[in-house]
Amino acid sequence: MGCMRKQAAVDFIFKRASVRREEPVLEQGQGFAPVNIALSKYWGKRDAELNLPLNSSVSLSLKLGAKTVLSQNCSKTDQTDLLRINGQALPANSESRRRLVAFLDLFRPYPAFYFNLESESEVPIAAGFASSAGGYAALVLALNHWFGWNLAVEDLSVLARLGSGSACRSLYAGFSLWKKGEDDVLGLDSFAQDLDIVWPDLKLALCVINEGKKQLDSRTAMQHCVNTSPLFSAWVEHCEKDCHNIVKALERKNFKQLGEEVEANALMMHAVMQAARPAIFYSQPETLAVIRSIGALRAQGLNVYFTQDAGPNIKLLFLEADRAAVWAALGTRSLVSCN
Ligand code: PMV
Repeated sequence: MGCMRKQAAVDFIFKRASVRREEPVLEQGQGFAPVNIALSKYWGKRDAELNLPLNSSVSLSLKLGAKTVLSQNCSKTDQTDLLRINGQALPANSESRRRLVAFLDLFRPYPAFYFNLESESEVPIAAGFASSAGGYAALVLALNHWFGWNLAVEDLSVLARLGSGSACRSLYAGFSLWKKGEDDVLGLDSFAQDLDIVWPDLKLALCVINEGKKQLDSRTAMQHCVNTSPLFSAWVEHCEKDCHNIVKALERKNFKQLGEEVEANALMMHAVMQAARPAIFYSQPETLAVIRSIGALRAQGLNVYFTQDAGPNIKLLFLEADRAAVWAALGTRSLVSCN
């Protein structure tokens, strides 16, 4: 019952594109999608069922991502969806399995059709590395391939958003802009688009502080902030400006402006979390140590900035020309080059 509006959105897209809900056209379907890191964050929904955001956001896709292969589970004895991520079956009563099955229900051709899904993630799961974004986008691409839908990329972006909000930005390499949209009925104008900006010298590296699973998933944390953080309305008001300025800095390839805006946006998101009641802290002492050393390095003239998502890890932004200096300064920590 809970997914009726999601189903209505899928049905609308299918009808508009003349897609019929039929059996797959191939033995198996495959999809790869990159994970994306938000430069201007999505934090807060105006509609929790459809994952409609309160603000627009911009991201950079990495070369790391998720690969998903789909086929039909025709077993007579095991009549259920077989869902494996990195070779491990999702635990029977887990929230991640429940979410994924509910998403697959939107596309199941008939009730006794069971999926066999194998997904490989190149980044740690549920640790603030945006693994679910790559995962849901790769799944939508695999479905599109397997069922032969031939949907336009914007439609695929809407479908990915129904799985996980930020997944709608993972349909593209490079920079994507997710406009929040105005349609509150089915949310069909809330999808990401390719920004068509090429800036190969802009680099992102992960500074791994903790690869463990996070305590609180972003979905719950976001809603808790919407409901309880007194800073939330200021955040929403400011976000569209940040998003606009970040797009402008990307267009102008103004690294200093970009870095300052990106950092300020991430810090404001974490301030919103810390003002929630009870407060949410994703940072660990080591996270703050890295943030402080980035500030100190900048004071010494090294152009490095950071962003942080719903986890303790830090993502560094720098220009290719400064790569060796960044590694020399921070390389005692675990750095992973991402694009
Ligand atoms: O799409 P979700 O529910 O995983 O939320 C993503 C939230 C952030 O990563 C913190 C921000 C963003 O825009 O990616």
